Amino acid sequence: MSGTVTGLTCSVCGSHLDIAAPLSWKCPNATDADRHHVLDFDSEIDVFRPTDDENPFLAYREYLAVDAYGAALGLDTAIRISIIQELDDAVRAVDGTGFIRTPMKRADALSDELGFTPDGGIWIKDETHNVAGSHKARHLFTELVYLVMTERAGVAPWKTPSERPMLAIASCGNAAIAASTLAAAVQWPIAVHVPVASATSVIEKLESLHADIRVCPRLETDPPGDPCVLRFREEVAAGAIPFGVQGTENAWCLDGGRTIGWEMLKEIGHRVDRIFIQVGGGAFASSIASSMRNVGTHPKMHAVQAEGCAPLSRAWEHAKNNGGTRDAGSRWSECMWAWEEEPYSLADGILDDETYDWIGILNGMSDTGGSPVVAAEDAVIRAHELASRFTDISVSPTGSAGLAGVLQIRNEIADDERIVVVFSGVLR
Ligand SMILES: Cc1ncc(COP(=O)(O)O)c(C=O)c1O
Ligand SMILES: [Zn+2]
Repeated sequence: MSGTVTGLTCSVCGSHLDIAAPLSWKCPNATDADRHHVLDFDSEIDVFRPTDDENPFLAYREYLAVDAYGAALGLDTAIRISIIQELDDAVRAVDGTGFIRTPMKRADALSDELGFTPDGGIWIKDETHNVAGSHKARHLFTELVYLVMTERAGVAPWKTPSERPMLAIASCGNAAIAASTLAAAVQWPIAVHVPVASATSVIEKLESLHADIRVCPRLETDPPGDPCVLRFREEVAAGAIPFGVQGTENAWCLDGGRTIGWEMLKEIGHRVDRIFIQVGGGAFASSIASSMRNVGTHPKMHAVQAEGCAPLSRAWEHAKNNGGTRDAGSRWSECMWAWEEEPYSLADGILDDETYDWIGILNGMSDTGGSPVVAAEDAVIRAHELASRFTDISVSPTGSAGLAGVLQIRNEIADDERIVVVFSGVLR
């Protein structure tokens, strides 16, 4: 078996990092002026034999880059397993839920409603009961394991927990809640950079988790871009640890995200025809794409954005014309830039004006004969209504946005095709 991740390579400039290089989350050539770099894991998996553990980070441990990192630092298998177990116990103590393989089943009533035959239909992977109510904690857990392994191996620049640098994130929703939940589990201080117009329910949740909440109005001196991200980067420049869900800021989020894909493929992998993933910053879809590459299963992948903010589909069109949709990283500026108009959608968790993790998604769609889908706002709304009427999952409009992609191109899909969507976040 060759499941071990051996290093990280930048998909843009080709820089290589050894797997054992501690505290390496972004390409060494990434600067504040040039954020167009993202690290990808070097790995080949030709035999895929996860264990049966209920916890995905244990079941798929051998395929995780963070496990290879811990091993390279000299932590033996028993210690690496116990770090995952201890952290999972600590998360469960705070959240009431630990990491378990989330359910996936055919949505019979919804499949009937959409005219699928009994052979085909819609399978829903339900992340709403995951830690902190969305899939985001999966991405963040590998960042946390990475930090704790760094400490345990004695290679962290800080010597005691009281000297730990602060964690930092920019987010107004699920990612902020997930990051603050994990931080609370290990009592690690976290600065959460939120927009002025954040939902009260989110702020209250963050307060209950003792996050240091920083409201970020736009300053007159600010360059273009999200002020929360600007303040977050200032905090990181001053020594904080990036603890968010953008691969461009911390590539280790892309590691844990893959467990969702591996679980789905284990469940009905060889029988899936298409998989629809909603895309905001893109870490989620990029991880799913990379999970499929690892196990050599190839359902067509469709990245779904709302018509009110669709920079990824624009990037796909440009990449097609300037050298191809595969390995487009070196053509970043010609393909991906911030959406110019004010983004809008009921699915407000996928309104990132730039798809930071676009390169891996384009590769995934290229390798599987997939394509981006831009969902009309009507489809986004109808998807959420159908989810509420025909399933018993309490999902947010962002969480059901992959289904909007199915509705958008339903007439191109045969009635006996097997379709997978992920209901990624709970209705708050
Ligand atoms: C519930 C939910 N689904 C999907 C996404 C999109 O994930 P990503 O930003 O990694 O593309 C988000 C992001 O905020 C989310 O909260
Ligand atoms: Zn680079």
